[in-house]
Amino acid sequence: MNETIRQMMAHRSIRRFTDDPVPDEHILEAVRAGQMASTSSAVQAYSVVRVRDTGKRAALAELAGPQEKVARCGAFFVICGDSRRHRLLCERAGAAYADTFENFLVSVIDASLFAQNLTLAFESLGYGACYIGGMRNDLWRVRQIIDAPAGVYPLFGLCVGKAAESPGPRPRLDPGAVLFEDAYPDDAALLEGVGAYDRVYEAYLRERGARPAGWSEAMVDKLQEKTRADAGLFYTAQGAKLG
Ligand SMILES: Cc1cc2nc3c(=O)[nH]c(=O)nc-3n(C[C@H](O)[C@H](O)[C@H](O)COP(=O)(O)O)c2cc1C
Repeated sequence: MNETIRQMMAHRSIRRFTDDPVPDEHILEAVRAGQMASTSSAVQAYSVVRVRDTGKRAALAELAGPQEKVARCGAFFVICGDSRRHRLLCERAGAAYADTFENFLVSVIDASLFAQNLTLAFESLGYGACYIGGMRNDLWRVRQIIDAPAGVYPLFGLCVGKAAESPGPRPRLDPGAVLFEDAYPDDAALLEGVGAYDRVYEAYLRERGARPAGWSEAMVDKLQEKTRADAGLFYTAQGAKLG
């Protein structure tokens, strides 16, 4: 295993942090590394808002669950897909920005690639991190807190800081369950191996002191619920074209 892969394999989401701050130079270094992620035609359709203000952090922590770590971690970021700059460039040139679903999708893809490189950079600097999808519980309030104008799409948060816990790795599906050759497999092949993974996943949860459940059960519980059903409305209000 080379150093990069060792670093990637050491990933665990960190949810408890010490009070240590994250120095600005580490943040800049990680953002620079994040920016080197590939980006569709170099559009760089993303931005990241570091939230320092304690009142704003408390409000974001509350709407995310509550999730205390949002208020307590060394540094907190809101990752956004971002078409604002492109819209302004088009306006300045007297051109009409093409509002398409493709452009929205590109911003989500670009922002996610940036965020994962950013996270990996922080991890390589000795920090722990946890993404916060809980931001999407109340996107309207997030928009207000970070003053996001039209064309900016808050997607998820990111907690970063020195770890105050060392959880074990959360097991993943077997690589063969996600890597296919030449063609997509049939449904029976797709479900093969899930039973064995269920048992590994359940043992992992038991060891963490969480309610033990197989992965299948956890997915069924999660995926039959219609959560954050107004996200589409919000992104449309921000200028995204979703259809
Ligand atoms: C986009 C995204 C949003 C997430 N949102 C949350 C969250 O709101 N709270 C949380 O505790 N973990 C959150 N997570 C962390 C996942 O639960 C975690 O990555 C997953 O269970 C795998 O565990 P691992 O990261 O420790 O390997 C999120 C992860 C992603 C990718």
